[in-house]
Amino acid sequence: MTDVTSPTDLVPAPRAVRGPTRPGVELTPGTTLWAGPGTETTERWLRSTLGPALGLPLLPGPEDAPGGLRLRIDGTLAPEAYRLAVAADRGIEITGGGAAGVFWGAQTLRQLLGPDAFRRAPVRPGRTRDIPHRTIEDAPRLRWRGLMLDVARHFMPKDGVLRYLDLMAAHKLNVLHFHLTDDQGWRIEIQRYPRLTEVGSWRARTKVGHRASPLWDDKPHGGHYTQDDIREIVAYAAERHISVVPEIDVPGHSQAAIAAYPELGNSDVVDTASLTVWDTWGINPNVLAPTDNTLRFYEGVLEEVLDLFPADAGPFSPFVHIGGDECVKDQWRASDTAQKQLGNLGLADEEALQSWFVGHFDRWLTARGRRLIGWDEILEGGLAPGAAVSSWRGYAAGVTAARAGHDVVMCPEQQVYLDHRQDAGPDEPVPIGYVRTLEDVYRFEPVPAELTPEETARVLGTQANVWTEVMEDQGRVDYQTFPRLAALAEVAWSDLPAPADRDFAGFERRMEAHYRRLDALGVAYRPPTGPLPWQRRPGVLGRPIDGPPPHR
Ligand code: ACM
Repeated sequence: MTDVTSPTDLVPAPRAVRGPTRPGVELTPGTTLWAGPGTETTERWLRSTLGPALGLPLLPGPEDAPGGLRLRIDGTLAPEAYRLAVAADRGIEITGGGAAGVFWGAQTLRQLLGPDAFRRAPVRPGRTRDIPHRTIEDAPRLRWRGLMLDVARHFMPKDGVLRYLDLMAAHKLNVLHFHLTDDQGWRIEIQRYPRLTEVGSWRARTKVGHRASPLWDDKPHGGHYTQDDIREIVAYAAERHISVVPEIDVPGHSQAAIAAYPELGNSDVVDTASLTVWDTWGINPNVLAPTDNTLRFYEGVLEEVLDLFPADAGPFSPFVHIGGDECVKDQWRASDTAQKQLGNLGLADEEALQSWFVGHFDRWLTARGRRLIGWDEILEGGLAPGAAVSSWRGYAAGVTAARAGHDVVMCPEQQVYLDHRQDAGPDEPVPIGYVRTLEDVYRFEPVPAELTPEETARVLGTQANVWTEVMEDQGRVDYQTFPRLAALAEVAWSDLPAPADRDFAGFERRMEAHYRRLDALGVAYRPPTGPLPWQRRPGVLGRPIDGPPPHR
């Protein structure tokens, strides 16, 4: 990157910037917008978001309007690539290889316009905007640039999810991995099984802090998305070129579903009828019974899920995440029903039983034109060929999966679990996991160096995971997610050198401009100087882990 100066420091960094060497362009209420065929999502976004921020109507105008804004597609560029050219004699032109490229170009234009462009209404009405002459050529490094939001442990109301989609778009992230179900809550309406939300979407009380903490919040916690809420979220994401990948976590992490429908659990081992939605944290032994009845139930769930998350809503919309993580097998070992099933299927052990369970849904999804993705435990006991893997327990699973020909999303907990604390200091709220600073995330390398070029092509990309056990509201989610998500976005988008050679000081300098954008967006990020007084949680027990980041 060359010659980008404050206040237009771009995050994520683009591939190449030229200028300014000539006069730029003045954006005024008279500036017109011409949108070529296929650029409608960006046209709508400019009029609904950028225009109102600056008080500019961006009225339709001819392609050759002097000083006008033009959007066009040039199929010789890669689909997500774009060129943004600003020059007095030509106006502002955003050319994308596809509709997504044009949209990412518009996100860059917004950054060039200063922090006010990130507000919802003009704070300096009547002010015009000078954009210096520039040509920016840009394209993403990785295809899957994601954020996983856990809305199960703490529910994020719909408006919060839409807001996160806007925040993702501003960082050129394009996959929301939507963790919709877990032991502590079921968050998606399934019409044929109403108890999933009637019973499964709320809990009477909640552990405050790590499970060893003595504190409880006795306020009931709950909420779910109706099917129309889900349709709205998916459509809002698609307008922003973001694919939403729903996660229905099976066969572990299922106590909320079992509380709603006790026959789903191992009722010959535990009294599943007395189970409630879990109110504390950790790995839960109450897993689904590995029966044909359970398969039929979840086929019913997934039929509705497929309808709500259509395969054509985005490049990664065919994917459905079925979890597969942390399924404790103790109940399967103790259950006559499970053992009988194991015997009937001629399986060697409980790992093979999980593999059977996952394999069933892989075939079921494949038969419907969809693709299964799961946490890396789904590799155990053998994985069906078309399935993809979210590598969370480190690099090794991702390497194994890529070598076995599976697509992989790299999200190792040692590096990009944003519930982990950002600093070793005593003021960090509810300190969980490793110290992973902004710099650690900036030096995260998502593509394992040991892979061959062919195996590397299996790495779809990367995502940060936001688990919300200790994030009870939007402010806590913001604090853990930002500014580190900006670093993850740059890792995923920009063509950075090897971790040790990355210019973190330069990133920090650009972040000065970016913090002003986050301020304008109302993001409660962790300030570089540490938490503000109200961002602390004195007296709430966490579970810090020591260990250096595995810089690669
Ligand atoms: C996970 O963190 N259990 C995927």
